[in-house]
Amino acid sequence: MSRIVHRDIAADLPIAVRGRGVTITDADGKTYIDASGGAAVSCLGHGHPDVLAAMRAQMDKLEYAHTSFFTTEAAEALADDLVAHAPEGIGRVYLVSGGSEAVESALKLARQYFVERGELQRTRFIARRQSYHGNTLGALAVGGNTARRAPFAPLLFEAHHISPCFAYRHRRTNEHDEAYGLRLAAEFEAKLQQLGPDTVIAFVAETVVGATAGAIPPVPGYFKAIRQICDRHGVLLILDEVMSGMGRTGTLHACEQEGIAPDLLTVAKGLGAGYQPIGAVLVAERIYEAFETSQRSFQHGHTYIGHPIPCAAALAVQQVIRRDNLLDNVRRQGERLQSGLEERFGNHAHVGNVRGRGLFRAIELVEDRASKAPFAPDRDVAGRIKQAAMEHGLCVYPGRGTADGTAGDHILIAPPFIVEGETVAAIVERLGDAVDAAVAQARS
Ligand SMILES: Cc1ncc(COP(=O)(O)O)c(C=O)c1O
Repeated sequence: MSRIVHRDIAADLPIAVRGRGVTITDADGKTYIDASGGAAVSCLGHGHPDVLAAMRAQMDKLEYAHTSFFTTEAAEALADDLVAHAPEGIGRVYLVSGGSEAVESALKLARQYFVERGELQRTRFIARRQSYHGNTLGALAVGGNTARRAPFAPLLFEAHHISPCFAYRHRRTNEHDEAYGLRLAAEFEAKLQQLGPDTVIAFVAETVVGATAGAIPPVPGYFKAIRQICDRHGVLLILDEVMSGMGRTGTLHACEQEGIAPDLLTVAKGLGAGYQPIGAVLVAERIYEAFETSQRSFQHGHTYIGHPIPCAAALAVQQVIRRDNLLDNVRRQGERLQSGLEERFGNHAHVGNVRGRGLFRAIELVEDRASKAPFAPDRDVAGRIKQAAMEHGLCVYPGRGTADGTAGDHILIAPPFIVEGETVAAIVERLGDAVDAAVAQARS
C-alpha cells in the first residue's frame, strides 16, 4: 500500500526506476518513450551527463545558503544568463522553485510595482478562460481551468476572465486570423473600460496555451494588439511561459514569435528540465526601477528561492541547449511531428485538430468532426488514450475540458529537444494505436 497522496486516488502507477535519453524504464523492466517530458518538463531527456556533472560540482561546493544572508555564484550566473537571452527590456530575475510560485510572484510583483508608484487603486487582474497558471490560490484565481478551480472557487480572489484565443473553436466562418485577433483585443479593451482601466494591474496570459486546451498558438497580431492596449492604459502584461517557454516552441521565449515583450515573464518546467525544481520571473528593468526609486524591497520570499543546486542545473541545461543547437532540432523535429500527426490523424473520424508550435503539439479529440462536438466527459477519452499509450510504451499528457472547460479532450505531445526522426515516427505510430484503441473502447 502506498502512503503517498497520489494525484489520482484510483491510479495504480508503475514505479519509474531509470531514465536515459527519451526513455523511462519501470521496475518491471518496461520502457516508455517519454513523449511529453512529463508535463513538458524534461526538455533534455533523462540522465544528461553535463547537467548531472554541474549539479555534482555545485553540491561539492555549497548545497544551500539562505538568500537573506548570501547570494551565490550559481544564482548570479543563472540570472545573468537569463537576462542576456531575455526579451527586450528584461533586466532582472526573481528565482523560485516552480511554475505556480513564479506566477504568484509575478502577480505580487505587479501589484507592489503600483503600490510603489502610489497607484493603490490598481487591484484587478484580467486573464482568460481556458487557461492554467498554477494551483496555488493566487495562480488558480487568475487561471481559467474550470475543473481545477471548482472545489476552491469560494476561496479565490475575483479575477476577470475574457475569451481565449482559440481559433479552432471560436474563429467565425469567413473570419481571418487577424480579424479574429482584433475582435479579441477589442473584447479586452471593452473589459478594461468596464472595470475602469486605472483599476487594473495586469493582463495575464499563456503565450501558447498548454494544459487546459492543448498547445494553442495565438493568431498573428493578437498579442501585438494586446500589448498596445496595455500600454495605452498603463496596464502590465504578464506572459506565462511556464509550459511554452525556454525553447519548447522553437524559440527560447514563445513571445519572440509574436514580436512583443512582456513586463513580467514566468518560466519554469524547461528551465531546469526536471533535473531540479526551479522557476523564475523575468522582470522588466522599468518594473524594478520603481522598487529602486522607493527603496523598498519586494515583500515576498520563500525558503528555497535562488537555491544553488537548481540554479547550477538550470544554467547547465541552457548551456547544453545553446552548445548543441537544440532549438534547430526543436523546429526541425517539430515540423516532422506536425506532419506525422497530420498524416496519421488528418482523416481520423475523431481527431478534429492537430496544432502547436515546435515540439509543443496537440491533437483534439471530437465525437463528430463536422460539428466539432466533443465526447461526453464521462467517457474520459483523454484518460483512456493516456492509459492505452502507456500500455504501448508511450507517455503523453492528457487534457480534459478542452472545448469549454467541461467537455472536450486533447493529448499534448512535448518530447525532449534531443528527439530524433525515428523516435518521432514511433511516437506517432504508438499514439495512433492508442487513440484507435481508446476511442473504440469509449464508444462501445
Ligand atoms: C502555463 C502554466 N503556468 C503555471 C503552471 C504551474 O506550474 P507548477 O506545476 O510548476 O507549479 C503550469 C503547470 O502546468 C503551467 O502550464
